Amino acid sequence: MAPATQSEKWSPDSWRAKPVQQVPDYPDAKALQDVEARLATFPPLVFAGEARDLKKQLASIALGNGFLLQGGDCAESFAEHRADNIRDFFRVFLQMAVVLTYAGGEPVTKVGRIAGQFAKPRSSPTEKKNGSELPSYRGDIINGTEFTAAARIPDPARQLEAYRQSAATLNLIRAFATGGYADLERVHQWNMGFVKDSPQGHRYQELADHIAETLQFMRACGITSENTPQLRATNFYTSHEALLLGYEEALTRKDSTSGDWYATSGHMIWIGDRTRQPDHAHIEYCRGIKNPIGLKCGPSLEPDGLLRLIDLLNPKDEPGRLTLICRFGYDKVEAHLPKLIRAVKKAGRTVIWSCDPMHGNTISAVNGYKTRPFDRILKESLSFFEVHRAEGSHAGGIHVEMTGQNVTECTGGATAISEQDLSDRYHTHCDPRLNADQALELAFLVAEQLKKERAADARLEPRTLIA
Ligand code: TRP
Ligand code: MN
Repeated sequence: MAPATQSEKWSPDSWRAKPVQQVPDYPDAKALQDVEARLATFPPLVFAGEARDLKKQLASIALGNGFLLQGGDCAESFAEHRADNIRDFFRVFLQMAVVLTYAGGEPVTKVGRIAGQFAKPRSSPTEKKNGSELPSYRGDIINGTEFTAAARIPDPARQLEAYRQSAATLNLIRAFATGGYADLERVHQWNMGFVKDSPQGHRYQELADHIAETLQFMRACGITSENTPQLRATNFYTSHEALLLGYEEALTRKDSTSGDWYATSGHMIWIGDRTRQPDHAHIEYCRGIKNPIGLKCGPSLEPDGLLRLIDLLNPKDEPGRLTLICRFGYDKVEAHLPKLIRAVKKAGRTVIWSCDPMHGNTISAVNGYKTRPFDRILKESLSFFEVHRAEGSHAGGIHVEMTGQNVTECTGGATAISEQDLSDRYHTHCDPRLNADQALELAFLVAEQLKKERAADARLEPRTLIA
């Protein structure tokens, strides 16, 4: 099948005429249609103007200023939908953001993998356990994790529950982001829970002391969080993988001010490494909506293939439209990233380069647990920055799977989680996540790299001025 071109007619359902990967067969087609019809009448979760604001922030990162922090669960779950989980995630996410803003010295755009991150692509359509074989778990929006035939049947009613949970989650986070919880005057209060007494907690404490001192000085000058909304509130955006296209289509709406189509299931959506075939359904859907789009780039992506996808997804080269989320594996960055950067530069295209140091570094521990060694996560992040420094391009973001809970899913980190420790608190429904302490440690490391990049830019500045 020929790949779509921008001139080919697009509609929210034009993906249905294309081959599609990773979308389940629902046994009851009528029940699925009923759910999609109901979803289509529900209010949008986000509003087009917000997606445009996010795109503006991302545009400035694509042009070299600022940094994208994107993170959250691998998969959200219905069972863990609780206020304390949402708060604990948001708290450590704010800590990371403040570390990156203060120590890195750049404005940080905050995008959660949250309020819609429910559908999972799987490497195998079936799962074998104790001699029996069942369809794989595909995320709570599709089927259940329990290893029973009944739980693994795709159930369309789950889409209504995912919508409800996304709305409730987004509502609470919006309240936190603008209602006082994210006030910089509370920078010390975000450091609570189990992180408080950890090595990273102490490091954070020190940084928070500096910020508090700065705010005290500004207060003396008359700038306070009461009279300055920038200190009191933050912008927080949502994102997820746009995998379940029937759900996405039902929430696709025409913006009345611009006449453009937007996915209203989240502010930003991304395309997975397994579903980025240029002539298939996922690319077809994403090319027609105006939201900022992420594209996962794995080791199988070659420069030509990437340029073709850029042509389809961002034909007018709008900065902020496209974020390339690189996930090569700690030992493959140097072999794969430079050629992609050079090809994009040569073609004169504007993208954000973001690093996903998680998905290329998943291994099986001796006891069978799926894990990610923290030192490999750090190494992939460092290599990403090194390559960008060498290529003279901007390392624009980081994309991580993380939780605010004290889980033991990735080995290593300052508290040295061993393979034997994994069974203690291994709660993920899908991939292993950084716990709060590991997430914070990564933020400190990335902030140092950002500082280095700025120092290198400053050294170049006189020359730029003369030219
Ligand atoms: N409004 C600024 C921002 O979002 C400063 C800010 C307020 C902030 N609260 C924050 C930064 C919490 C990080 C974390 O960047
Ligand atoms: Mn994952």
